Amino acid sequence: MAADRNLDDFAWWQSGVVYQVYPRSFQDSNGDGVGDLPGLLARLDHLVTLGVDAVWISPIYPSPMADFGYDVEDYTGVHPLFGTMEDFDRLVAAAHERGLKVILDYVPNHSSDRHPWFVASRSSRDDAKRDWYVWRDPAPDGGPPSNWLSEFGGSAWEWDEATGQYYYHAYLKEQPDLNWRSPEVRAAMLDALRFWLDRGVDGFRVDAIHHLIEDEQLRDNPPNPGWREGMSPTRRVIRIHTMDQPEVHDAIAAMRRVVDSYSGDRLLIGEAYLPIDQLMAYYGTDLSGFQLPFNFHLLSTPWEAKALAALIDQYEAALPPGGWPNWVLGNHDRSRVASRLGKAQARVAAMLLLTLRGTPTLYQGDEIGMTDVPIPPHLVQDPWEKNVPGLGLGRDPARTPMPWDGTPGAGFTSGKPWLPLGPEATRVNVTAQAADPGSKLALYKALLALRRVEPALSVGSYRRVSAEDDVLVYERAHGGRRLWVLLNLGRDLAMVDAPVEGAHIRVSTHLDRDGEPVAGSVRLRPNEGVVIGP
Ligand code: NOJ
Repeated sequence: MAADRNLDDFAWWQSGVVYQVYPRSFQDSNGDGVGDLPGLLARLDHLVTLGVDAVWISPIYPSPMADFGYDVEDYTGVHPLFGTMEDFDRLVAAAHERGLKVILDYVPNHSSDRHPWFVASRSSRDDAKRDWYVWRDPAPDGGPPSNWLSEFGGSAWEWDEATGQYYYHAYLKEQPDLNWRSPEVRAAMLDALRFWLDRGVDGFRVDAIHHLIEDEQLRDNPPNPGWREGMSPTRRVIRIHTMDQPEVHDAIAAMRRVVDSYSGDRLLIGEAYLPIDQLMAYYGTDLSGFQLPFNFHLLSTPWEAKALAALIDQYEAALPPGGWPNWVLGNHDRSRVASRLGKAQARVAAMLLLTLRGTPTLYQGDEIGMTDVPIPPHLVQDPWEKNVPGLGLGRDPARTPMPWDGTPGAGFTSGKPWLPLGPEATRVNVTAQAADPGSKLALYKALLALRRVEPALSVGSYRRVSAEDDVLVYERAHGGRRLWVLLNLGRDLAMVDAPVEGAHIRVSTHLDRDGEPVAGSVRLRPNEGVVIGP
């Protein structure tokens, strides 16, 4: 058997951990109630103390904020709300000084309708940029050219009276889709990558990549027999002609060539909510695509030992040769893990995330166990909730500001926060948890520290040991060292055969059993996970 590679032989993004910052809600430095880049810079040491390797920052570009930055008005600027280009440069330098990588959000599928490109494009059918967006004539009855639906509700086609055509928008009408079949669009968008790479960024998280290209013939999407009242209206149809079109891979490979032309292992992470078999294509032919196509399957798989074990096996088996795994438990679009699974089980989830093979991405605030904050209707910000109210689709609850301490602005702002802090902020905050050796924050730090000293947990092999009742057990091994992870996903006490004799508990989710010798069987309390090792 070939000897295991040294840790140094792995790219930083293989052994490292990514931390997502939603910049509006991380740290405000000027009292306007919205987080900004100087604020983020001032909090970088939190990330260092936590023990992550890279910070992915959701969009910071000039934007009318119809979709809170995912509607970009200028791909090579910084929104004054977040600061200046000098602030950005300072942030990158400060992050790099601390050994942190910086990953930006890249939004290629659509721009803002206020982007000068779209303003030109909609000005006339003869404009040189007309085909930079997806313009089509009406259907014979004068209605939209196809039955395609917007992710955020309603038709995906918006009528433009002045030029007598419809334009396509996979998301809001304020987010017209760019036409990636245009070589000029491609060139301009690849230049945007170069702009930031030249400024030293270490990679990009690529937004909504599965929406990049639509069927050229505009074929209607078929109805979805599985759609039920209460589900997102966009799911009324099966999006076979608007998502995951084969041509997307050529565009991704072009992005990857740009990134690879720079030194130092720059990274592309792709956002695509797709079944595992379809997702694998996003690694690209001969790994010419994303290094990490986001794996969101922990967000939707039933939280049961057998289901999780099957997911891990299926995902591992589907990976292309050399394809690197990754796992996600939360982001700014999904209900927080502590709300989905409950606070106690969220600790077990943290242990799972940080001990699976592959690159984990953490979402800000999950390290202190933030829960979804209920947003009263008059404070709703998210356009999705505004367009399609009452279905629980709104994303504001997971986007509330980071509570740093127990003061009225939670240390986040001296002003009025753009979203409410929520009732827990006075108790659940970074300062309180930093002082509590049993806190969620302490658990995250312990797991990240263990991951750092035990490469088996980051780059080691994965082997399922068992998935019986509520308990999932797996082994991680690297360079002759083996560790075992035992997770009790249930609320009852569980006794598990010790996978090994003469080992010790390295960490428990309850943080009170370090060094306990393991013999015979291991007792797991309700909602307890342990890592066992030499
Ligand atoms: C995915 C982003 O994560 C989400 O926040 C955004 O609304 C859509 N893409 C559209 O850009």
